[in-house]
Amino acid sequence: MKSLTDTYKLSNGVKIPCIGFGTWQVEDGKEAVNSVKSALEIGYRHIDTAQGYENEGSVGTAVKQSGIDRKEIFITSKLTNTVRGYQQTLDSIEESLNKLQTDYADLFLIHWPNPIGFRQNWEEMNAETWRAFEELYRQNRLRAIGISNFHPHHIAALMKTATVVPMVNQIRLCPGETQDEVVNYSRAQGMLMEAYSPLGVGKIFEVPQMKEVSNKYGKTIAQIAIRWSLQRGYLPLPKSVTYERIKENADVFDFKLEEEDVQLIADLKGCVGYSDDPDKTTW
Ligand SMILES: NC(=O)c1ccc[n+]([C@@H]2O[C@H](COP(=O)([O-])OP(=O)(O)OC[C@H]3O[C@@H](n4cnc5c(N)ncnc54)[C@H](OP(=O)(O)O)[C@@H]3O)[C@@H](O)[C@H]2O)c1
Repeated sequence: MKSLTDTYKLSNGVKIPCIGFGTWQVEDGKEAVNSVKSALEIGYRHIDTAQGYENEGSVGTAVKQSGIDRKEIFITSKLTNTVRGYQQTLDSIEESLNKLQTDYADLFLIHWPNPIGFRQNWEEMNAETWRAFEELYRQNRLRAIGISNFHPHHIAALMKTATVVPMVNQIRLCPGETQDEVVNYSRAQGMLMEAYSPLGVGKIFEVPQMKEVSNKYGKTIAQIAIRWSLQRGYLPLPKSVTYERIKENADVFDFKLEEEDVQLIADLKGCVGYSDDPDKTTW
């Protein structure tokens, strides 16, 4: 990868810009509109939102106000945990598209595999939900469809009835957390791995070994983590509401980590904690 607009290719041939701009915990309104507009101005062409972030409207507004052709921007959103089932999913995605002020999304994901409200029958509910995803995919309302936080047993369950294999699995991947089993299983089915919380939700800045690697390359800790993500073949989704950081996080194409440092960072097990068990979440 040589620039922000370089792409990974999904299994259906759709191209996806190699760094996505994260928007979790970015407040709807001024904060979300301004940070997404800053990201687009700096050169990001991929925005990651979700129904649950409650800022899809602001993402849509920022994209409109940027003046950039909609086709040049890759927009991802995610189906929230309180929505499952065929018709409910169709209606809910329609609502997202309205908020996003667009007639298609580039990628839509099932946000979590086993929401608390459907714990009794999550397999059946995901199957029905996926049927709606496939329908919208066939209608070109969604250019690609995928999953998030799915472990192998959730994927295996989904594949019992799926006719389209998810193109993406978005999971927590950051220094010290590589979720090898999930990654290997997902990749074997052709999925691209998207790395959420690539900066450990801000916790990596306290990790001494990250500081050492940062000093060695003369790049910031954030840049080291994002570069690491790319060199592992993940698609990182860094979030910031701070203009200089948004810029800094995109400046990762003028250096390369040595293989031993890529491994060292992978081996910092638990340095920023681990992801939630999707079968035990309380949401
Ligand atoms: N699918 C899922 O379940 C899921 C879960 C979590 C996240 N995600 C996605 O992944 C995205 C990123 O993950 P995340 O939001 O959890 O956290 P993250 O990107 O790992 O870290 C964000 C934190 O790091 C700070 N930061 C960013 N760049 C920095 C820099 N260069 N120097 C110092 N601090 C910096 C930010 O501060 P400021 O904003 O104050 O600058 C913020 O506090 C999310 O926004 C979302 O799109 C998905």
